[in-house]
Amino acid sequence: MIITALRDKSGALRGFSKVTRDVTERMQAHEALKASNEELRKEIADRISAQQKLHASEQSLRRLSGHLLRMQDEERRRLGRELHDSVGQYLAALKMGLDSMRPEENDQLAQCVHLAEQSMKEVRTISYLLYPPMLEEMGLRSAIPWYLDGFGKRSGIKVAFEIEPDMARLSRDAELALFRVLQESLTNVLRHSDSPTAEIRLMRKDGLVCLEVMDKGKGIPAGVLESSRDTQGTLGVGLRGMAERMRQLGGNLELISSGTGTTVRATMPPEA
Ligand SMILES: Nc1ncnc2c1ncn2[C@@H]1O[C@H](COP(=O)(O)OP(=O)(O)O)[C@@H](O)[C@H]1O
Ligand SMILES: [Mg+2]
Repeated sequence: MIITALRDKSGALRGFSKVTRDVTERMQAHEALKASNEELRKEIADRISAQQKLHASEQSLRRLSGHLLRMQDEERRRLGRELHDSVGQYLAALKMGLDSMRPEENDQLAQCVHLAEQSMKEVRTISYLLYPPMLEEMGLRSAIPWYLDGFGKRSGIKVAFEIEPDMARLSRDAELALFRVLQESLTNVLRHSDSPTAEIRLMRKDGLVCLEVMDKGKGIPAGVLESSRDTQGTLGVGLRGMAERMRQLGGNLELISSGTGTTVRATMPPEA
């Protein structure tokens, strides 16, 4: 409603004019628009907050798995050291004691010496597999051949190792992660592939560090390989653990597999 004062030439008030317009429809349209705007705004806000929650829980999961992997490494290192330093030392002392009792004159004693020796060997192998001591001292260049030597003997699989001559040392975490990928991949070759051979290569490729474990076995079943493509998949703990280790270091894990063999390729930036 608009009310206007009407005046004559001299400015004296003569009356009022009044215009009334029905704006109900316009107001209703305006209200409807406002409501639907509000609804849209709420929906967007909801979606953003859902996305933020998803992102936060993903981050938290990633931190958790990184933490678990580090804890597992620490635990293995501690167990390896303890086995080697305490049980290993007791066994060495036991063998020395038995040796001093002239086992060459007593078959039963000789048997005990033999058992003590076997136990020492076993403890050393288990402790080194839990945490290879030469990995930190001499790096992958020495630790991989040492591991392959034992693996070849235990499994009967022929293994070949190739390393770039000028391959530099990596960080402790990076070397340990690659070593664990090697262990897990070779365990898979032995357990699942039926391959008589395995080939390991460690090199630089496009500025990245690259570890490849190749076998000539029957390949990863299609279903397993398929589920490795999406994160919801039912991948085994082994493959997923390897992929997560690589992701934690800014790298990734690739699986190339067919009926004639499998290649596991782990890549990461050299500064990881
Ligand atoms: N080198 C390989 N050759 C054939 N199949 C493989 C190989 N590596 C893995 N697989 C398949 O992928 C599956 C998942 O492997 P992994 O995540 O290491 O779990 P797990 O070894 O405990 O079964 C295995 O069960 C096997 O079917
Ligand atoms: Mg496995």
